[in-house]
Amino acid sequence: MSAHTPPTPMTARASGPLVGEAQIPGDKSISHRALILGAMAVGQTRITGLLEGQDVLDTAEAMRTFGAEVTRDEGGTWHVHGVGVGGFAEPETVIDCGNSGTGVRLIMGAMATSPITATFTGDASLNKRPMARVTDPLALFGARAVGRAGGRLPMTIEGARYPVPVRYAVPVPSAQVKSAVLLAGLNAPGQTQVIEREATRDHTERMLAGFGAQIVTEDTDEGRVITLTGQPELRPQVIDVPRDPSSAAFPVCAALIVPGSDVLVPGIGLNPTRAGLFTTLREMGADLTYENLREEGGEPVADLRARYSPDMAGVEVPPERAASMIDEYPILSVVAANATGDTVMRGVRELRVKESDRIAAMVAGLHASGVTVKDGPDWWIVTGQGAGGVPGGATTLSHLDHRIAMSFLVLGLAAQKPVSVDDGAPIATSFPAFEPLMAALGAAIERT
Ligand code: S3P
Repeated sequence: MSAHTPPTPMTARASGPLVGEAQIPGDKSISHRALILGAMAVGQTRITGLLEGQDVLDTAEAMRTFGAEVTRDEGGTWHVHGVGVGGFAEPETVIDCGNSGTGVRLIMGAMATSPITATFTGDASLNKRPMARVTDPLALFGARAVGRAGGRLPMTIEGARYPVPVRYAVPVPSAQVKSAVLLAGLNAPGQTQVIEREATRDHTERMLAGFGAQIVTEDTDEGRVITLTGQPELRPQVIDVPRDPSSAAFPVCAALIVPGSDVLVPGIGLNPTRAGLFTTLREMGADLTYENLREEGGEPVADLRARYSPDMAGVEVPPERAASMIDEYPILSVVAANATGDTVMRGVRELRVKESDRIAAMVAGLHASGVTVKDGPDWWIVTGQGAGGVPGGATTLSHLDHRIAMSFLVLGLAAQKPVSVDDGAPIATSFPAFEPLMAALGAAIERT
């Protein structure tokens, strides 16, 4: 969030049953990519269902600063008039990506193989996050980066004048790094290859193919090898952004832990690179069903139906599932606190470098609400208190992290005493409609 946004303290208290239908907004990952690839196509891309959260609005503004025309019509459709691969203009101002790691890392990739220089900054959370994971591979294309100590923003990228293609094995499981390399590869001649050991969300690959790029993914002994042929002419697209499974997670998990609940969440994407939380919840014994399973735009989609599930039990989440639910561990830990037994989460070191150190933030807040939690560098274990067994009664810090704020508010809906967060303002980065949507289901969440 902007440094100027005042903190918004919020409190959630035990609520009656959550009942009804929840219309979830557009997918954040796909929304960023639609704007960026639209700006790199020649002609006009039309986008419906775009997430109008602050993160995505910051990316839209960045694309304007690089010379694309980005407008929203009265019906809510977004129009992006792209400048073509290699057509970015040099920005006259600093690019402020706010809270968004996805925004800044993908945009750095997209501009790194053009002969222009751009300076990036963000809010207090983003300016703490590591950027070397992106600038290291961008240097292989010929780009240069100068930032603060430890590879932090603010940072200036001087794009490569004569980019060369790259073959790069991503050292951490990160769709942002993979995507930054692929977007940089667009303006390099020849073939750029990215290798990832574990499959991460594949929206960039799918969308690049949709825009007409030549891109091939092969499963090999090395991992997934993605080969992109550079310097295509991207054709503008009509994109209908699917609803975000990471946002759906909050009303779904709230329904599972609030007595008597029955909530329908229509049209949620079940792309296997994103749906790990729902698999895990079902393994815990959640009454979570997929209704009306279908395909939309090449993606599996279902209406999710979540009902109160007082008999959930802790599980060991397989580490190889981590990438497919990386943003959902905070809300999973809230469900785990309301189950019986231990929920063990290993292989999740990446949680320490998100919008906040999400393991530290959740451990501190759950502990303050009377839940037993242990953690190590890349693992944590939540000991369940059973249905309705969380004492609550704490005020927790959200650390400028939307998912931490929403997770603790959901905790408060099923705890014995209210749970507060010091600042709910960051929720607007990804899920601006969170408060009215939860209130319409019957959740007692208020600004305090
Ligand atoms: C995202 C990738 C993930 C995820 C983030 C969105 C993306 O980050 O946590 O919320 O849209 O590519 P990493 O690439 O750092 O794992």
